Amino acid sequence: MQKRKQLIKNKKVLQTTYLPEELPHRKDEIDKIASIISSALYGDKPSNIMIYGATGTGKTAVVSFIGKELKKIDPDEDRCSYLYVNCEVVDTSYGILFNIASQFIKDINQKIPFTGWSFEKLYEEFYKQIEMTSRVFVIVLDEVDHMISKKGDDIFYHLAKVNEHLVKSKVSLIGISNNMKFMELLEPKARSRFGGESIIFQRYDKSQLEDILKKRVEGLFEEGVLDDSVIRYCATIAARNEGDARMAIDLLRIATDIAERNGDPKITDAHVKSAKSSMETDIIEEAVKSLAPQSKIVLLSIIKNTEAGNTVMITGDVYNVYKHLAERLQVSILTQRRITDFISELDMMGLINASIKSFGRLGRTKEIKLEVPKDIVERFKRDPLFKPLDDYVPPTQTKLM
Ligand SMILES: Nc1ncnc2c1ncn2[C@@H]1O[C@H](COP(=O)(O)OP(=O)(O)OP(=O)(O)O)[C@@H](O)[C@H]1O
Ligand SMILES: [Mg+2]
Repeated sequence: MQKRKQLIKNKKVLQTTYLPEELPHRKDEIDKIASIISSALYGDKPSNIMIYGATGTGKTAVVSFIGKELKKIDPDEDRCSYLYVNCEVVDTSYGILFNIASQFIKDINQKIPFTGWSFEKLYEEFYKQIEMTSRVFVIVLDEVDHMISKKGDDIFYHLAKVNEHLVKSKVSLIGISNNMKFMELLEPKARSRFGGESIIFQRYDKSQLEDILKKRVEGLFEEGVLDDSVIRYCATIAARNEGDARMAIDLLRIATDIAERNGDPKITDAHVKSAKSSMETDIIEEAVKSLAPQSKIVLLSIIKNTEAGNTVMITGDVYNVYKHLAERLQVSILTQRRITDFISELDMMGLINASIKSFGRLGRTKEIKLEVPKDIVERFKRDPLFKPLDDYVPPTQTKLM
C-alpha cells in the first residue's frame, strides 16, 4: 500500500491542545496578568484575577503560557507553584479540591482518600498541606462557571478564603469564565472574598486570526502547499463565527487531513469548505447526543411525524406522537406547555425550525420542520433510550390545513 503523503511536518501544532511558543495579539493580556502574578516570585500574594471572554479567545492558552513562564523562572517551585484545574472536567467540589491537592501533595492516595471524607475535612487537610510548603500558589480554575451550574460554588468561596488560614504560604486565584455575569451568580460572601481584578479577552478579528494561523504554522508546510489565501479563508470563516481561534485552527487541520487523504498536493479553499461542513455535522451530532431524555423524545416525535409524511407539523402533532412514545418508553408524560418549551429549545439549537404562523381569527400556531440531516437522524434513532420502540408506527394525524 502506498504511504499517504504528509503535507505538514508536525501535525501536533494544529491540535488545539498544543501551546505555541508565541501568542500573537495577546501581548497586552499576557503583560497585564504577568505583572500581577509576578509578585508570587517575591513571596507576595498576587491579587486574584477573573478572566472573561468568548470561546476561542485564548484564555486557557494565555494562562498556560503564564504557568510555563513561572515554571521557567522557578523550576523547582521553591517560591511559587502553578496549579490548574478545569472545572468542567472535574465536577464536584470535592473532586476539584482533590485534583488541586494531587498536583502538589506527593503520594496523595496515601494521605487523602479519593472519596469518603467530608468536604470540610478535605479542605482542612488541604490548607495544612499548603501551609507546610511555605510557597505562593497560583491556582487556575478554568471554566469556573460550570461549578455554579453544578451547585459547587462553595469551592470558590473556600478557596477565596483559604488565605485566612495561612501564615507562611499564600494562595492566589485565577478564574476563567465565558460568562461575564459569573460574579453576579456567586453568593455575595464568595464575591467579596474573591475581590480581584477582571480582564476581558476581546474576540479576534479576521486579520488577527490570520496572523495567529500564519505564526502557528510557520515553516511547517513546504513551499506552495499552503497559500496565504487559504489561511485567509480559514480566518474569514472563523471571524464570522465570533472570532474563535479554535475554529480557525480546526478548519486548517481538518482541511489538511482531507487534502492528505485525497492525495492532493496542496491545500485549497475547497478543502476548507469540506472541513467546515464536516465540523458542522459534528456539532449537530454532539448537540443531538447531549439532549435530555425528554427532549430526545420530543425530537423523535418530530422525526416520526416527518417520516410519516407530515413534514410541516404543528405543536399538537408533536404532542400526540410524543405522548404515545413516552407511554411506550414508560417515562412520565409531560404537559403540552412543557413540550412547547422543549420545541423552542430545539429551535434555538437549530435542530428544528419553528416559525409562528397566523391563521387570522383562528389564532396562531407554530409550524415545525425538522432540520437534522438524514444520516444523523438514522444514528439518533439507534439511541439505546429508544430500544423499546423498534416496531413503532405513529398514529394517523389529523392536519389543521
Ligand atoms: N493568540 C493566539 N495565538 C496562537 N494560538 C492561539 C491564540 N489564541 C488562541 N489560540 C489557540 O486557539 C485555541 C483556542 O484557544 P483557548 O483554548 O485558549 O481558548 P479559550 O478562550 O480558553 O476558549 P474556551 O472558552 O472555549 O475555553 C487553542 O488551540 C489556542 O492555542
Ligand atoms: Mg479555555
